[in-house]
Amino acid sequence: MIIANWKMNGSRESIDSWLRLASSDIEFNEDNLCIFCPPSCFLDYSSSLINEISSSIILGSQSINFSKDSALTGGINTEMLREFNTQYVLIGHSEQREYFNEDNDSLKLKLKSAIESDISPIFCVGEPNDIKLKGQTKDFLSNQLQILDKKYSSHLSIAYEPIWAIGTGDNADLHYIEDIHGFIKDYCDTELDFEEKVSVVYGGSVKLNNCEEILSSSNVDGLLIGGASLDSETFSKIYNLS
Ligand code: PGA
Repeated sequence: MIIANWKMNGSRESIDSWLRLASSDIEFNEDNLCIFCPPSCFLDYSSSLINEISSSIILGSQSINFSKDSALTGGINTEMLREFNTQYVLIGHSEQREYFNEDNDSLKLKLKSAIESDISPIFCVGEPNDIKLKGQTKDFLSNQLQILDKKYSSHLSIAYEPIWAIGTGDNADLHYIEDIHGFIKDYCDTELDFEEKVSVVYGGSVKLNNCEEILSSSNVDGLLIGGASLDSETFSKIYNLS
């Protein structure tokens, strides 16, 4: 699973050209999904274009709200996302946790809402630098992971994104990624009693020159890519190497 997270970037024009170019340059493999997460206001346009050009790119949303029916100015619920044929949603990205004050209680509601509407969550976890330096990463991640219900296990994926690696050009090294992904998989298996093996993708300064090394670990099931996903040529090359 290779995911493009466009964050707050793009225009109708840039999305149009990216979707057309990526759809022709990518050698799609049905076992390796290619997911595009544009800003919410472009989901409708992206969905129509994906349909029009019969692209194999799958649409994901960067956010959802925790409830389907509250009076919530600015809210977008999972049923609206389904209208745009959105199949995936990022939940718990560190930027949303920080700037939109998401906590374990609201994230639990978002996970439930997505799964009830048949949208697969990509649940993001990751530690800040001070926690890493204190050697407390696994405790920190356990606290984020403990909200996952085993009944979600066949519907969700996890993205490990160390906060200190996001947008810094300083990706985690392979040994560290392998260790943490192994920990997340074990935690889901033994502590949460997941019935199925969970996929764990890595995000945080993934680039063309480090993607192959990161993917060489059998504990890495894909990539969540921010900055390097904006250029269709770079993103397509990363996908084709994966
Ligand atoms: P980055 O962002 O690839 O620009 O580090 C990743 C993300 O935040 O999903």
